[in-house]
Amino acid sequence: MSISIGSINIETPVFLAPMSGVTDLPFRHMVKRFGAGLVFSEMLASRPMVENARRMRKTRECFDFVEEHPLAIQIAGCEPDVVAEAARICEERGAQIIDLNFGCPVKKIVNNMGGSALMRDEPLAIRIIEDAVKAVGVPVTVKMRLGWDHDSINAPRLAEMAENVGVKMITVHGRTRNQLYTGQADWDAIREVKSRVRIPVIVNGDILTPHDASLALEKSGADGVMIGRGAYGKPWVVKQVMDHLSTGQHSPAPSGLFLRDLMLDHYDALISHYGVDVGVKISRKHIGWYIQDLRNSEFVRSKINASTVPDDVKNMIFEFFETL
Ligand SMILES: Cc1cc2nc3c(=O)[nH]c(=O)nc-3n(C[C@H](O)[C@H](O)[C@H](O)COP(=O)(O)O)c2cc1C
Repeated sequence: MSISIGSINIETPVFLAPMSGVTDLPFRHMVKRFGAGLVFSEMLASRPMVENARRMRKTRECFDFVEEHPLAIQIAGCEPDVVAEAARICEERGAQIIDLNFGCPVKKIVNNMGGSALMRDEPLAIRIIEDAVKAVGVPVTVKMRLGWDHDSINAPRLAEMAENVGVKMITVHGRTRNQLYTGQADWDAIREVKSRVRIPVIVNGDILTPHDASLALEKSGADGVMIGRGAYGKPWVVKQVMDHLSTGQHSPAPSGLFLRDLMLDHYDALISHYGVDVGVKISRKHIGWYIQDLRNSEFVRSKINASTVPDDVKNMIFEFFETL
């Protein structure tokens, strides 16, 4: 089931979704460690990126992806020239795919005409795509929702228009903007998008397991899947789904000491990436996700959340796994 995103060939198209506050460099590295094909960065706002680059400031946002291959960098913004400039910067820094965010439902973004608000202004959305496509040599892709609300489902039309101006892949989260994250993602509705374009279409929303992935593909007719929240505390899930789709089988989730050491590696990577103060805080949600299904994890979780000393946290993790 391989697909081509422009000149980039992906053998088994199972992607890690872009998730602000989650798919940072340390997490993407964990996912890649299991052999995942393609991962997406967190959404990067185009205007601050361009302004920082003009001032030649080496912000973490602009530079934290230089060593990853292949990697799709996602850009958000509503000013065609600024988005195009941001795309150029990302390409220069090594991004192999530029993904445009037409799906973010968050008020702060849509009130500035970004994210899913662009689905309500098709001419602007298309100008943004056109300028980005002209600005870079790497493939430009778009991630969108089904539409703004149930009365304005326009993903099929917008996908077709996007293909006509050079987009190389469309990902659709099977919800409308107004649904936010409520209800169930509608995988069937993505079939209409698939029928309107020749470029690959990726189904996204509520895919948690290999079985979900098969069902989502069957219902949508899509060419690949994208997994977001299903990867919380499970960086191996993208690879499990890849294996399941290509061979019908997949390895079990890591457990015991292997899981412990994986968590500790992730923890060390977060501390070294963000520094102790921020790293300790960011790591808490990841640790919580890793251990949430383990016996008696509530108590150690609250102790970890109260600690600001990395060595203490690591000792708590060691001790917790000894009790299992
Ligand atoms: C915490 C969080 C952050 C997200 N950040 C982004 C983002 O930066 N860009 C984007 O296109 N979608 C973002 N999304 C949406 C996801 O990429 C995905 O479309 C959505 O979660 C549905 O997929 P899932 O059910 O597999 O999580 C985010 C979702 C969550 C839960």
